[in-house]
This record gives sequence, C-alpha cells and structure tokens, in this order.
Amino acid sequence: MSVIDDLRRIREEAQGAIDVAQDESALETLRVRYLGKKGSLALALRGMGQVPPSERPLVGQAVNEARDQVEALLAAAKSRLARAALEAELESTPLDVTLPGRRTALGHRHPLTRTLEDIVAIFQRLGFGVLEGPLIELDFYNFEALNFPKDHPARDMQDTFFVEPESLGALRGRQDVLLRTHTSPVQVRAMLSRRPPLRLIMPGTTFRCDSDPTHSPMFHQVEGLYVDQGVSFADLKGTLDAYAKAMFGDRPTRFRPSYFPFVEPGAEMDMACGVCGGSGQLPGGEPCRTCKASGWVEVMGAGMVHPNVFRACQVDAEKFTGFAFGFGVERIAMNRYGIDDLRLLFENDVRFLEQF
Ligand code: DAH
Repeated sequence: MSVIDDLRRIREEAQGAIDVAQDESALETLRVRYLGKKGSLALALRGMGQVPPSERPLVGQAVNEARDQVEALLAAAKSRLARAALEAELESTPLDVTLPGRRTALGHRHPLTRTLEDIVAIFQRLGFGVLEGPLIELDFYNFEALNFPKDHPARDMQDTFFVEPESLGALRGRQDVLLRTHTSPVQVRAMLSRRPPLRLIMPGTTFRCDSDPTHSPMFHQVEGLYVDQGVSFADLKGTLDAYAKAMFGDRPTRFRPSYFPFVEPGAEMDMACGVCGGSGQLPGGEPCRTCKASGWVEVMGAGMVHPNVFRACQVDAEKFTGFAFGFGVERIAMNRYGIDDLRLLFENDVRFLEQF
C-alpha cells in the first residue's frame, strides 16, 4: 500500500505548504507542484504499475480524493488571501463612510426671471391670466392697431429692428416685419382672438436699437390689459397701486398725465424713491441721484384703452372700456438687487449671477 502512503504524505505536505503561502503566485507554484502534469500526484500514479489489479480501484479512488482535497485547499487559500488583501487595503486607505457625498452644483434662476415670476404671481393673485405673443411682429400689431400715426418716430429704422424675411414662409419679402418694440402688440392679439371680459398680463422679450449702461437692444416688458363693461380709471389706479405695494412694499404712488398713442387719458405711475425715502435728499443732505432729487421714480406707463385701438381690435367701444399698462422688467431687477449696469444681466458671467 505504499502508493496510499505516498498520497497521504503528499497531501500533508501540500497542506503545510498551502497554509503558509503568502500570495497567489506562490499558490500557483504549489498547484503545479502537486497537481501539474509532472506534479507529485502524477508521479504517485506511476506507482500504479506495482499495485495488484484487485486493489487498483481503491488506489484510483484514493488518488482522486487526494486531488480533490488539494484543489479544495488551494481554493480556500486563494479566498483567504483575497480577503486578507482587501482588508489590508481598507486598513491602509481608511474609508470614512460618514463623510458627506459630493454635491452636484445646482444652478438657480436668473435675477430677471425671478423678478418676472414675482410680478406675474402678484397679478395672478389680482385675477389676471397670462398670455404670450410672438417676438417677430407685423407693423399692424406693433404700431398700426395701437394708433401710432404713419410717421411716428418709433417706426423709424433708428429705433426699430426691421426684419427682412428670407425664410419666413408666407412673410417672405414683406416690408412690415419687425422685432416687437414693446409687449403692447399682445394686447391687440388678445382683443382680436378673445371676447371681453379680458384680464391679462403679457410678459415677454422686446427689442429696440439702443445700447448703453441703462439700455440693452434686447430687454423685457410686462403688459397688462383689463377690458370689461364699466372699467374705470379708478380701477386702473387701485390695481396698479395694489401691484406696487405687493412688489415694493408700502410706498406712496402717484399718477401723472402722460402720452401714449394707444391710451386716452394716458398716465405714468411714480412711486416714492426707495433710496431717499421720497425726500429727494440723502441723509447727508446731498441730492438723491436715483430720483434726480425729485423723490419719485417712474414705475410704468398706463391709461384707458383708446377708442381707435378698440376699433382696430373690433371691440365695441360703446359697450366696453378698459385700461392698459406696461413697464420694463430690467429696471425693477436692477433696483431690487442693486445692479448698476444693465448689461451685466445679459453677460451670463456666473461669478456675477451666483450672487443672487
Ligand atoms: N408700450 C409702452 C412702452 O413700451 C409702455 C406702455 C405705456 C404700455 C402705456 C401700455 C400703456 O399698455 O398703457 O413704452
């Protein structure tokens, strides 16, 4: 039974060697030494020749068992080494699972967008719906229907961007296509497409040939329109005063006569200057620059819808009256956030925008 003894000896020796192996390559060397083609087990099998035939099945079984055992020892050692390696790595580079995760930088809304949203929310609370119109307009909506005379300077190339529609389908070749200079054309679209009562706020982008620290060729306005039976100038004052108080706090307002072709009478609403508190003077006695020492700042243009506008928009001026108003959004945002150059709003420099 010397083969059986050999096998036992080989297995014991293998176990001893595997137990002290330090890494995977040492294990691989041992695998070759014991299980390889020229390994110890293969050599032991050569002794089969001397084994009497009746005992061969028994010896064969013993060889298989020895191989299975050595394989199991190798596999166990391999996973022991892997676990030890992992533990060593965790020890050497400690992982603090209580550290906060890496935050994704979140953007936030532009100061103009926030201002516009606040304005819209106030008018929605006052019962106004929201309507938007196209930025590329026809002269009819931007000027004609709003009672601008044919030779009005606003229609001049110096003030208005005219568009030569090469690729605007049906508009191709027309001379009366422009970038809207105000949001007032949306009033016309509203009246032509809906029946009174109308109570709408119409925010949007507007364009004029203008560029300096307080004017940008692209800017934003909010238009308002209220048309119904019996709408009066008192409604105009009450509504706009309520808006000013909600937007700017409890500051006195006043209405001055003014002229816009699409309203009659026309007015401008002023509000007590937020910088000098309406006195026109700064604490040190010097004149307030914000309101040019007048104590008042302009807030918006407004007025009662002109009968000519109703006529162009097919609204019965005998039956309905209405008021309209319009103002710029940039100036409000600048005032609110203390921005002194309007162009900063459109440069999209995140170092600037991050401050709000
Ligand atoms: N559209 C005018 C502008 O751009 C603002 C304005 C004034 C709008 C009076 C109105 C209004 O609706 O009634 O300067």
